Amino acid sequence: ILAISLWVAFSHKQYNSGDSLKETIISRCQTFIQNNRTSSAYDCQKIWTVFEQAFVGKDPCNVPTDAYDSLINTIIQDPICNKMLFWSKTKHIVHEFTEKRNCFQTLEDTLLGYIMDGLTWCGKEGSNETFTTGCPSWNDCVNHTVKSFWNRASAAFAEAACGDVSAMLNGSIATPFTPTSIFASIEVKRFNADKMRSLTVFLVTQENDGKSCDDPSLKNLQKELDPKLKYSCVSVAKSTIQECISHPDTACGACW
Ligand code: APR
Repeated sequence: ILAISLWVAFSHKQYNSGDSLKETIISRCQTFIQNNRTSSAYDCQKIWTVFEQAFVGKDPCNVPTDAYDSLINTIIQDPICNKMLFWSKTKHIVHEFTEKRNCFQTLEDTLLGYIMDGLTWCGKEGSNETFTTGCPSWNDCVNHTVKSFWNRASAAFAEAACGDVSAMLNGSIATPFTPTSIFASIEVKRFNADKMRSLTVFLVTQENDGKSCDDPSLKNLQKELDPKLKYSCVSVAKSTIQECISHPDTACGACW
């Protein structure tokens, strides 16, 4: 009886976890559509169905990036040229900033990134359920269900990059341009100089960091770029961005 009760409780919990993921995704999708009038053509139910098909019934460590191709093609969103903002190791501040200021848009400010931001999911071989717990960790495998999603979504976002593009990097870490990051390993490699005019790096610095735009890792970034692209780097004090986030009406410059 104990075994049966445990089984019932466990399978019920797992059923609920997939169910609540569906609710979260559909409700985020609807919220985004309400707040962005232009995107009313998207069908949130269909987005969920296409999303689920990418990983349900599969080994959670065997979901390649192309499993999400249909989802990416279902949520094609026109890029906002001159506003696209990439980032690495600055997740919190970059999103607090884009929430307050309209001058930039990160992947997580698009429908696709907004829906999935911070979520965990996976499937299981031989099961038609969706799980949100018990999934492998990010670094457990190459074809990790969630990692493949972000790699695929980031590739699409970078391929679409156009006009003057920006990136917010972290000046408080050893290598602001980290080779293993999504920004370095996926996004920069997909920048298309025929669509893009420039890349501006905003290096977020704090007193005593000792990091500047002369950092060797940023020289590596510059080397990776198509020479047709204009590159520039600006060091921005973290406190300046925080001021702007706290008092967007008075404490921001043109875009800070
Ligand atoms: N476990 C879970 N999630 C992780 C892990 C991990 N070990 N490592 C990275 N991530 C996810 C998290 O959501 C994290 O915030 O990737 C995000 C980005 O990680 P960073 O190392 O800070 O940056 P980077 O790898 O360069 O990716 C950022 O990718 O999301 C796109 O367009 C976006 O330019 C941005 C870039």
